[in-house]
Amino acid sequence: MIFLKTDEEIELLRDSNLLLGKTLAELAKVIAPGVTTKQLDKIAYEYICDNGGTPSCLGYEGYPATLCTSVNEQVVHGIPSDDVVLKEGDIISVDTCVLKNGFHSDSAYTFPVGEIAPETMALLRTTKEALYKGIEQAVAGHRMGDVSATIQDYCEKRGYSVVREFVGHGIGRDMHEAPEVPNYGRKGNGIVLKSGMVLAIEPMICLGRRNLIFQNDGWTTRTVDRKPAAHYELSVAVRNGKADILSTFQYIEEVLKERFI
Ligand code: MF3
Ligand code: CO
Repeated sequence: MIFLKTDEEIELLRDSNLLLGKTLAELAKVIAPGVTTKQLDKIAYEYICDNGGTPSCLGYEGYPATLCTSVNEQVVHGIPSDDVVLKEGDIISVDTCVLKNGFHSDSAYTFPVGEIAPETMALLRTTKEALYKGIEQAVAGHRMGDVSATIQDYCEKRGYSVVREFVGHGIGRDMHEAPEVPNYGRKGNGIVLKSGMVLAIEPMICLGRRNLIFQNDGWTTRTVDRKPAAHYELSVAVRNGKADILSTFQYIEEVLKERFI
């Protein structure tokens, strides 16, 4: 069952996403060599709680943290730890969900830690571009396959591979709602998109091969070939003519610009 959201509900979702975007910006301020992923988790937990939200990954199916922090070859659902110390040249995907006003928001951003290899920077750039290209297709009357195939083609043409085991999803009063939003597929296939659908679109893209394995904690997944993977996610409302992006990277990118330019 796909829940179409009213205009009022979409504004509540936007507000939840605003808190999430500002939370990720707090992390952008501190991500650097020497910082542990556990420290990031604590900052996010406190920021969300201090600003009227609830961290919705914490306790979800037993997940033990506010953030998913996936470093280098880790793809998604890395668990924050005192033992994971970021170092120059790493990349870290930070993915989290916030519950506010009764609605969940979901967004992820992959950050470079200091200077990273040019080929890894190109992976990050392409993954984020693919997300925005996919979002351009998320308009009423298009099909899900138009979103999926656009992301897949954009990445594969540039020599990257697309993760299949995890997909984007509808989002609203539940963190994961129908429909699924795969990052691979065929144009013209899949459900017809309708105004009021809210989708979390989240390409997970690999520098090498797309095959994944779970680490021993039962959550963290990494690439089999141990090459890096990138992950960016935005929640968007399907509309007539143009998608309405409810999450925001604006606050993150303002911080990154100030720090690094
Ligand atoms: N944004 C993640 C997802 O859509 C949220 C995971 S919460 C967790 O899969 F508890 F599963 F980690
Ligand atoms: Co998600």
